[in-house]
Amino acid sequence: MTTIVERHKTLEKNITLLGICALVVVAIGGIVEIAPLFWIDNTIEKVQGVRPYTPLEQAGRDIYVREGCYVCHSQMIRPFRDEVERYGHYSLAAESMYDHPFQWGSKRTGPDLARVGGKYSDSWHVQHLTNPEGVVPESVMPKYGFLAERDLQVADPAANLTALRRVGVPYTDRDITSALADLNAQAAPEADPGDLLKRYPKAQIRDFDGDPSRVTEMDALVAYLQVLGTMVDVNAAAAQEQLAKEKGR
Ligand code: HEC
Repeated sequence: MTTIVERHKTLEKNITLLGICALVVVAIGGIVEIAPLFWIDNTIEKVQGVRPYTPLEQAGRDIYVREGCYVCHSQMIRPFRDEVERYGHYSLAAESMYDHPFQWGSKRTGPDLARVGGKYSDSWHVQHLTNPEGVVPESVMPKYGFLAERDLQVADPAANLTALRRVGVPYTDRDITSALADLNAQAAPEADPGDLLKRYPKAQIRDFDGDPSRVTEMDALVAYLQVLGTMVDVNAAAAQEQLAKEKGR
């Protein structure tokens, strides 16, 4: 009995020893938390359908970040019943694996947007972004009508994709060389999209902002909103998960 107390006394009285021991204990805790992250690839379940954003969607995403939409909107549906009933299937880790930076967040002044793609028409989004209160009278969301006035200007779309490739987004050389052409073709119904659809399966090619004569920031933002949460067939993914669980039993 006394020995343990005595020994602890030595520890408490010797500042160097206490420091070293505290460091060791904290280091163990740190390793336990951090080491699994080195194998993070193994913790993201493989699901079908997730593809890198098209240059237009990526540009829309950059506008989303620039305008601070994330200050009021999260993009992460948690696996709780109330959230799933309101927003749809909970978010899968793989769905944001090409997001740099990710838009998860926990601040929800407005609703979660992880599965807003396809929920409304393009013109609903344009009207809502232009004047939220006109569509939802009690809305406190700011107005973003100016986006429809501004031509979309991305200084160097190829460089953007190259930077994303460096952090692990699998853009091909072809994606990068045709980034500028892809950017303009996706929102211009008259333009020839080439093999855009082959490289970006299920990409939506159309005029998004109601003004087919030019490509605006509104086009890019709405293209981005319309793809959110639509890449993965979540019902198929859920069935697959269920199957794997049953097999494991
Ligand atoms: C000050 C907080 C705030 C900011 C900033 C904000 N929003 Fe909102 N947003 C809201 C609120 C509140 C609602 C719910 C009422 C409504 O529909 O307008 C909402 C609703 C929405 C909806 C409809 C979601 C649904 O499922 O009904 C979309 C889409 C949306 N916002 C997109 C955006 C985008 C894109 C931006 C950035 C350009 C943005 N918001 C910036 C507060 C905000």
